[in-house]
Amino acid sequence: MSEMKTIGVLTSGGDAPGMNAAIRAVVRTAISNGLKVKGIRRGYAGLLEEDIIDMTNLSVSDIIQTGGTILYTARCLEFKKEEYQKKGAEICRKHGIDGVVVIGGDGSFNGASRLAENGINTIGVPGTIDLDIACTEYTIGFDTAINTAMEAIDKLRDTSESHERCSIVEVMGRTAGHIALWTGIASGAEYILTTEEYHGDIQRVIKKIQDRRKLGKKNHIIVNAEGIGNSNEMAKLIEIATGVETRATILGHIQRGGNPTCKDRVFASAMGAKAVELLCDGRSNRVVGRRICRF
Ligand code: ADP
Ligand code: F6P
Repeated sequence: MSEMKTIGVLTSGGDAPGMNAAIRAVVRTAISNGLKVKGIRRGYAGLLEEDIIDMTNLSVSDIIQTGGTILYTARCLEFKKEEYQKKGAEICRKHGIDGVVVIGGDGSFNGASRLAENGINTIGVPGTIDLDIACTEYTIGFDTAINTAMEAIDKLRDTSESHERCSIVEVMGRTAGHIALWTGIASGAEYILTTEEYHGDIQRVIKKIQDRRKLGKKNHIIVNAEGIGNSNEMAKLIEIATGVETRATILGHIQRGGNPTCKDRVFASAMGAKAVELLCDGRSNRVVGRRICRF
């Protein structure tokens, strides 16, 4: 065991369902190992403003089932600058914080690395609905987000079918197509457009709709990734070319909210606990990941 006495925990970047379960696990694992825990609110912005609170087992009661983050989250552009990274590390020392668990995406992990370089041990926990972090096949919130999006697409299918329409559904994921791919497969979409695979060939999409129409298919679902965007423009092009009424729906931030699924609650809990164990073992500048064993 290292000299770790007090750890901090923060959430940063876009929120993700399951972050609260991770915070809860960090707090309870740390306390059961004899550590004190400080909650740093609003990510690096809150760190720089010393928005820091003491956390107890009670502070994290009844949150495992809730979406969002009780510590709030923020984007803090200042923290990309060296002077503010040094200031952040100084503030940690001032508050007696020896190590910090950073729950967020790859941008937040950059910040964690800079804190580590400035003498504060850090461990990252992957919290993003985008599933776009290297070295882990699981990120907190992805499972909940894809289920939310899938249920929304099921509902769209009903109205699309009744009106014999084509629906373009734009899902989140910044530049990563994982949410589009999973929800597209799960909802039986006619087409899935991801930045990784789609290079602007709308004519192929149009041809497929025309072919399906000839075979008697009455409605069509196209899942479009946020990184491609332009869903409204695409809808117009498809409608003009095929004569099929087409509507675009941008699901947006609804995908980031809601109660986390069982999987997100359990894996987020395991990752939060692991992060504390790593800090206690004196590890720093590392990220907790999950690898699926293949035989
Ligand atoms: P995510 O963590 O979900 O990828 P962002 O990319 O918006 O989200 O990053 C969240 C925050 O992490 C930023 O607002 C900033 O405070 C911090 N951050 C991002 N990139 C860096 C960097 N290169 N150096 C230091 N801090 C960074
Ligand atoms: O990283 C999570 C995410 O929801 C992305 O899928 C999306 O591009 C981005 O955050 C949206 O960010 P904001 O909350 O700033 O609109």
